[in-house]
Amino acid sequence: MKFSKASMTALGVIALSIGLAAFTDKPAGWNQGGGEQDEALVFTKQFKSMSKAELEKVRADGVAVFEVCSACHLPEGWGTKDGTFPQLAGQHEDVIIKQLSDIRALNRDNPTMYPFALPKEIENAAPEVGGGPYAIAAVARYIQSIPMNPEPGVGPGDNLELGAKLYKENCVRCHGDNGQGDNAKYYPRIQGQHYKYLLRQFEWIRDKKRRNANPDMVKQIAGFSDTDMKAVVDYVSRLKPPAEDLAPSADWYNPDFD
Ligand code: HEC
Ligand code: HEC
Repeated sequence: MKFSKASMTALGVIALSIGLAAFTDKPAGWNQGGGEQDEALVFTKQFKSMSKAELEKVRADGVAVFEVCSACHLPEGWGTKDGTFPQLAGQHEDVIIKQLSDIRALNRDNPTMYPFALPKEIENAAPEVGGGPYAIAAVARYIQSIPMNPEPGVGPGDNLELGAKLYKENCVRCHGDNGQGDNAKYYPRIQGQHYKYLLRQFEWIRDKKRRNANPDMVKQIAGFSDTDMKAVVDYVSRLKPPAEDLAPSADWYNPDFD
């Protein structure tokens, strides 16, 4: 069969787009961005060239928005050891922006939080900030700066050797050797997070219940038994964030909410 010039061109375009797809490290359908996520990220870029005084204003706006969040995530942003509410403090800015945008766009189910994360709700609490993409960017920047809980909830500790082995083989390439994650790639920081929250998310991701999950992670952990899952998550819950990111003690109170 002979190809016409037009079909050769079409083949060329297909080959080119396959080539391009191979160069982006985002699996198809995951983190497509758009909408509020991209709009918030525009503000995040602007923050980089702002003066100290301007950044103080952004911080104050972030605190005003976080007042809404503190009802569940607590003023310290530490969540709860029982895993109902995750620790947010210290999470990467772009990860928070993605997760919050996904929750607002119903790409990640969170019926408890959803009504409180809506623009109207945030605008009511912080009228001078509004409830749009700027509010998302400001609160994400603030959350990243909050010192983390030095004593998060950990697992039972009975299978840590298996956990360490599984972590090294399956998680390091994305979450880093110490669970630090990667802001630029939207890989969450998982070190210092409560065991019970980690366990629930891991299970939901494995069982395809978390709709915004990274498909490459889903593939990576598809064969994990419940024993594997508990062991690796227990190991993760014991990974320590660097000392400079931690609050001085578990009794620390956030002075922004006195
Ligand atoms: C009514 C309670 C409630 C309020 C208020 C609330 N959240 Fe949440 N949030 C939750 C719950 C519950 C989860 C965990 C859901 C799950 O298990 O999937 C969560 C999860 C999150 C996550 C995902 C964390 C992760 O590690 O993936 C982010 C980000 C987040 N909240 C940010 C916020 C921000 C920002 C605000 C304020 C604008 C806020 N939340 C207000 C209950 C709340
Ligand atoms: C291909 C990269 C990749 C691999 C491999 C991977 N993850 Fe993830 N993981 C991610 C991304 C990306 C997310 C956030 C998904 C999203 O966008 O909502 C995530 C989310 C998570 C979460 C939920 C965090 C939160 O704050 O809600 C946990 C827990 C987790 N991963 C643990 C692990 C463990 C443990 C392993 C190894 C057994 C692993 N992951 C392997 C990329 C990866």
